[in-house]
Amino acid sequence: MKSSVDQIRERFDNDVERFSNLETGQSATIDAPLCLELVAEAAAAATPEARALLDIGCGAGNYTLKLLEQFKQADATLIDLSRPMLDRAVKRVSAATAGRVEAIQADIRGAELDEQRFDVAVAAAVLHHLRSDEQWSTVFAKVFASLKPGGSFWVADLVAHQHPGVQSAMWHRYGCYLADLRDAAYRDAVFSYVEKEDSPVPVMTIVDHLRAAGFVGIEILHKHNCFAALGAVRPITGG
Ligand SMILES: C[S@@+](CC[C@H](N)C(=O)[O-])C[C@H]1O[C@@H](n2cnc3c(N)ncnc32)[C@H](O)[C@@H]1O
Repeated sequence: MKSSVDQIRERFDNDVERFSNLETGQSATIDAPLCLELVAEAAAAATPEARALLDIGCGAGNYTLKLLEQFKQADATLIDLSRPMLDRAVKRVSAATAGRVEAIQADIRGAELDEQRFDVAVAAAVLHHLRSDEQWSTVFAKVFASLKPGGSFWVADLVAHQHPGVQSAMWHRYGCYLADLRDAAYRDAVFSYVEKEDSPVPVMTIVDHLRAAGFVGIEILHKHNCFAALGAVRPITGG
């Protein structure tokens, strides 16, 4: 049995500090600072005139802060389950832009998004909480509809592997990374919450969901061990 939404919210309510460092990103994520940079640079390249940003599962706002280095004075809409995370994100993001900052406390599965409102959407370390193909389809369709034609969508997340042997080899390497980062107890603590809370899917499954939602120009920006960053664009015409 995986954790309920309330249990996940409660854990993040008490974990704000760990997501509040823009230099390191979240340390349990391999290449966290690199992924922040790659997503921001790719979003700037794909959607150069962006004025409205959407951050799904914003945590303490790291991804929006990085995007704002590219899109100065943009508006930001921040969505998260956790009120303490949103409060921290609003404080940090408001200090970084003169644009409008809106916080929505919601589960992305049920959140209502205005159609064709955003230029750039990002979802970092959050979609691994989705539990079924249907939930992925619903969320990707919603993000697609919320983007203006030409807008871009970027995902950075924990991923699984299709081959069971490869999955166990990659998971072992990830365990070594965590133990080296701190110690075996830290590795076990991370593995324990991943087991309870997360349902990562392979990168190619995310690509399939992007395609099915209508996205084009899919780019894998990064894949290292159990972490990947990728994105795509809502076509200018059609959709
Ligand atoms: C691992 S943190 C990542 C935060 C931020 N995106 C980052 O990369 O620094 C995941 C965040 O997603 C939020 N979250 C988890 N499930 C969610 C859901 N279904 N809808 C909205 N937010 C969710 C959590 O409350 C938490 O703040």
